[in-house]
Order: sequence, then structure tokens, then C-alpha cells
Amino acid sequence: MTEKIHDFTFTSENLARAEATVAKYPEGRQASAVIPLLDLAQRQNGNWLSQAAMDYVADYLAMPPIRVYEVATFYTMFNLKPVGENFIQVCTTTPCWLRGSDELVHVCKRKLGINMNETTADGKFTLREVECLGACANAPVVQINDDYYEDLTPETMEKILEDLKAGKKPSPGSQTNRQGACPAPGPTTL
Ligand code: FES
Repeated sequence: MTEKIHDFTFTSENLARAEATVAKYPEGRQASAVIPLLDLAQRQNGNWLSQAAMDYVADYLAMPPIRVYEVATFYTMFNLKPVGENFIQVCTTTPCWLRGSDELVHVCKRKLGINMNETTADGKFTLREVECLGACANAPVVQINDDYYEDLTPETMEKILEDLKAGKKPSPGSQTNRQGACPAPGPTTL
């Protein structure tokens, strides 16, 4: 890494993580670590990537900044603007839509008093509509930060938001307590 002054630098803990990540790739292929390093930077930076953070990663990996911006702007898991403490991503793709995602969107907007792509004034919640989260068997699904909340109903969605507002951490996973993605009435095979 060249000697440059950045508004963003990895903490010593994250520097160690970054070194361990880069070491997984062959000499000369350090740029392959760009996604995990951007993820690390995003986590350190309150769940979004500032330009300073992207420039720092570019510098760290000796990549032209534009190559890092290309990656960061392509993958939707990278946030290029600040998001709330609870980043709520509601899946509205067909399987979730057929299972009631419209109602979940309605509950979120009503309970939080914001529209899609907005953040509450207290910075606690950001709401976003997303495409398939890859958990359709447990539709409808909402991702909140790193956790999936599945088999949701308007009532369970409302309760989750209330818990989060109260500073509690609702249990992720199926909200009907089914095991994994097994049939709703229970296992049908041995
Ligand atoms: S459609 Fe919502 S998780 Fe796949």
C-alpha cells in the first residue's frame, strides 16, 4: 500500500483480517480479494461504502480506484449511501409477492412512516425493496442486516419492527418455527 492520507483506514483488527484474506490468493492476484475487503470496509463504516473507503481498498490492493467502484456499484449488497441501523430489505419477487409481500411492504411503510429507499429521521431504519433473496421456499422473506426473517405475516412483521424499535433483537429464521424449509405441516418423509 502506498503512503497516502485517507479519511478511512482499517482498524488494526480489520487490517489483520485484510492481510489474512489477501494471503489466500496467489502472488500478483491480490485484486481477487476486492469483494471481501469491500465487505470488511462496509462493516467498519456503519454498513455503507464512502468514496474514501473504496479508495482506501483500491490503494490497499494496488488497484485503480475505478476498478473498485465498478465492483462496488455492480453488487447490490454494497451500499453507496448511509443506511439506518436496521437495514430492512423486503423481497417482492414473484414467490414472495404471491405469499403476501405487498402486505409486508404496507406494514413497514406504515410502522416506520417512510417510503422505499428512505431512512427514518432517527437513523434507526432504512427500507428497501429487493429482488429474490434466494429463500423462496420460506416466502415471504425480509432481510434485516445479516439476518433473514421468513414465513412472515403482517402480524409477525409488525411484531419484529416493534421489537427492533424497542431495542430488542427478534429471532431470525422461520417465524412459524418450521424446521429449515421443510413442508409447512411438518416432515413428509423419514
Ligand atoms: S422470491 Fe423472495 S426469496 Fe425468492
